[in-house]
Amino acid sequence: MKAIRYHVTGGPEVLAWEEVEKPRPASGEVLVRIHVAGVNFADTLMRRGAYVTPPSFPETPGLEASGIVEEVGADAEPGLVGWRVAFMGQRCYAEYTTVPADALIPLPAQIGFEEGAAFPVQALTAYHLLYTMDQVRPGMTVLVHAAAGGMGLQLIQTAKQAGARVLGTTSTEEKANLARQYGADEVILYTQTDFAERVKELTGGCGVDLVLDSVGRATFAGSLRALAPFGHLIVYGAASGLPEKLNVIGALMQKSQKVSAFWLFSTLQAPAMATRGVWQVVDSLATGRLKIHIGLKLPLEQAAEAHRKMEARETMGKILLKVS
Ligand SMILES: NC(=O)c1ccc[n+]([C@@H]2O[C@H](COP(=O)([O-])OP(=O)(O)OC[C@H]3O[C@@H](n4cnc5c(N)ncnc54)[C@H](OP(=O)(O)O)[C@@H]3O)[C@@H](O)[C@H]2O)c1
Repeated sequence: MKAIRYHVTGGPEVLAWEEVEKPRPASGEVLVRIHVAGVNFADTLMRRGAYVTPPSFPETPGLEASGIVEEVGADAEPGLVGWRVAFMGQRCYAEYTTVPADALIPLPAQIGFEEGAAFPVQALTAYHLLYTMDQVRPGMTVLVHAAAGGMGLQLIQTAKQAGARVLGTTSTEEKANLARQYGADEVILYTQTDFAERVKELTGGCGVDLVLDSVGRATFAGSLRALAPFGHLIVYGAASGLPEKLNVIGALMQKSQKVSAFWLFSTLQAPAMATRGVWQVVDSLATGRLKIHIGLKLPLEQAAEAHRKMEARETMGKILLKVS
C-alpha cells in the first residue's frame, strides 16, 4: 500500500510518498481502509520534533481519519467488517491503518467521510475545552485565538450555542470575515492591534471570563491581560512557540485567576468522559447544529503541501487529505 512517511525530523520536504507493507490487525484491532485523513497542527509539530510525544521512525503522520472496516483481528467483533467509521488513531496518512476496535466511532448516515475525518480531533477538543475544562454558559464572554482555524471555528460555534459572547483573534481580514460567518461577535486582528487593550474596550474594562489560547508565546501575556477577575485561561497549543514561565503568585493571585492546560489524548484515560464528548459531537454534526468548514482538500500524496500551507498560516478551517 501507499503511505506518507518521514525518516528524520524537519520541514515539510521530509514527507515522502512511499510503498509500505499493509498492516495486519492485532488482537482487539481492526484494519480500516482509509477514505479521508484529517490534518492537524500537531502533525506539523511532530514532524519538526516539537510535539508532546516524539516520532518513531519511520513515522507516518496522521491522528484521525474516516473509512471502512475491512478486516478484524482476533478478539474483535467480526460484524464490524463493512462499517463506516471515524477514529482518532495513528499513522492515518496511509491507505490502511489498524485501530483498536473500541476506538471506532460508527458514522451515522448523515455524516460523510469528509466530515467524519474532520471532527475527531478538533470538534472533540473544542467540546472538552468548553464543557470538561470549564463550563460554558449564557452570559459568559470567551476569547478564541486563531479564530478562523480548524479549532477556532469549532470553538466559536460550540461557545455561541451555549449562549456565550465570543470574541476572536485572527491575522487577516479574510480570516476575520470567516470567523464572523461562523458566529464570532467581534474579531480583532491581533497582528495589527493590541488585542488585550481591544478586549478591555469591548468588555467595558472588565476582560473576558475564558481565554482559549493555542498560539502560546505571541499571545500568552496578552491573554492574561485580557482576563477578567476570576477568569480562566486554558493553554492548549503553542503555534508560535512555548509561552514564558509563569509566577502564579505574582501573575494570578491579585485577581484570583486560573491558568490550566489541556491535551485531548489525556481524555482517553477517562473513557466515560471521552465517550460523552463523542456522543455530543456526533449528535451535533448529524443534526446540523455543528458545521465543519473544509478550507483545503488535497490528495494524500500532497501532504507536504498541506503542511507547508498550515505552517505558513495560509489555511482556514479544516484541511483534509483524500486517500481513496
Ligand atoms: N491540546 C490539544 O489536545 C489540541 C488539539 C487540537 C489542536 N490543538 C492546537 O490548537 C491549535 C490549532 O490547531 P489546528 O489544527 O486547528 O490549526 P489551525 O488553527 O487551523 O492553524 C493554526 C493557526 O494558528 C495561527 N497561528 C498563530 N501563530 C502562528 C505561527 N507562528 N505559526 C503558525 N500558525 C500560527 C494561525 O492563524 P492566524 O493566521 O489567524 O494567526 C494558523 O492558521 C494548534 O496550536 C494545535 O496544536 C491542541
